Amino acid sequence: MVKTLKEKYFNLFGNRTGNPVFFFSPGRVNLIGEHTDYNMGFVLPCALTYGTYLAASANNSGIIKLRSLNFDYSLDISINKIKKDTEGEWVNYPLGVIEEFTKRGVKISGIELLYSGNIPNGAGLSSSASIEMVTAIAINRLFNAGINMLEMVKMSQNAENNFVGINCGIMDQFAVGFGKKDNAIFLNCDTLEYRNVPIELKNYSLIIANTNKKRALTDSKYNERRAQCEMAVKLVSSVRAIDHLSQLSVNDLDIIEECIDDQTVYKRARHIITENNRVLEAVNALYNKDLIRFGELMNQSHDSLKNDYDVTGPELDTLVYEARKIDGTIGSRMTGAGFGGCTVNLVEESKTDEFIRLLSRKYMEVTGLKADFYRTDTGDGAGTI
Ligand code: GLA
Repeated sequence: MVKTLKEKYFNLFGNRTGNPVFFFSPGRVNLIGEHTDYNMGFVLPCALTYGTYLAASANNSGIIKLRSLNFDYSLDISINKIKKDTEGEWVNYPLGVIEEFTKRGVKISGIELLYSGNIPNGAGLSSSASIEMVTAIAINRLFNAGINMLEMVKMSQNAENNFVGINCGIMDQFAVGFGKKDNAIFLNCDTLEYRNVPIELKNYSLIIANTNKKRALTDSKYNERRAQCEMAVKLVSSVRAIDHLSQLSVNDLDIIEECIDDQTVYKRARHIITENNRVLEAVNALYNKDLIRFGELMNQSHDSLKNDYDVTGPELDTLVYEARKIDGTIGSRMTGAGFGGCTVNLVEESKTDEFIRLLSRKYMEVTGLKADFYRTDTGDGAGTI
């Protein structure tokens, strides 16, 4: 990949500027803990070996040059005139991050950036966080900004919230920044304390299945869910001083049922509270090497996302419920924001070929769509190559 990127880099930019530096940033898959991040709860994602490669070099042109091998659209823009682009959506992720650096007083004299990624876009595997974080580590290195990983994670989240305009939580950027091969990240999104939890799958494999459903209305429904959670906090606050739903535990479910009349809002809150509990149990299951229990928790998580949080839809549900019927599958759930995107499945190693064969046939039969499958290897977080 680096060799191709280097060749293309010189084809596109010429070789006046000397050798570019190469960077890589992974995508992520969340194993459990969905929609809990913006409720200051627990999540358990891991970084993938799929990700975004970047060749970059600094110069004194005063211009940012953005190119991608994945998109035709390219942009040259003056560093003093950064603004949201309306034609090419992808450029807004790097632009937002660059603006975060300039806001912190980092002097960017000019830069050429060529991206190439192998994460399927819009599949819920964090291609956006990956492109943000790879930009952040490149700017940090090329302009000696001396900013630490946690700050870059927050800057990338800010770029997405404020520049791109998507109100995401911190999970994706955090997983992409701090991922560690063969480990999941157990993150408390309130304190940002985290622990690497070794994933020892023994004779099981993680398989990601992509619905290939174009996500529609994801952003508006995502924001609606956030608003419903805020409403729940407000209603519960009349009897208990809380700032966010993750301050409640499963023992409080009776109380919240009493103070939240609206059944929909109550169910949203119930998902968050029970999901936090499932993450804690899932971490224990991993430490105890109890994959069967881990799989059960994955199943319960999906069911709660379907019934209480209502973020699944027919495509994700078909993939999940058909997967569970296949011999050797011990857990299946949606991953990411939902409404489309991917599922993650825990499948007996020797049965994975059969799993893919049966599930793709059934999914096509029911939905008319072709699913894609990726065997998941966990990888390290963002860095220089
Ligand atoms: C998206 C967001 C994350 C998180 C998940 C749901 O991936 O970017 O911050 O909220 O949805 O768990």
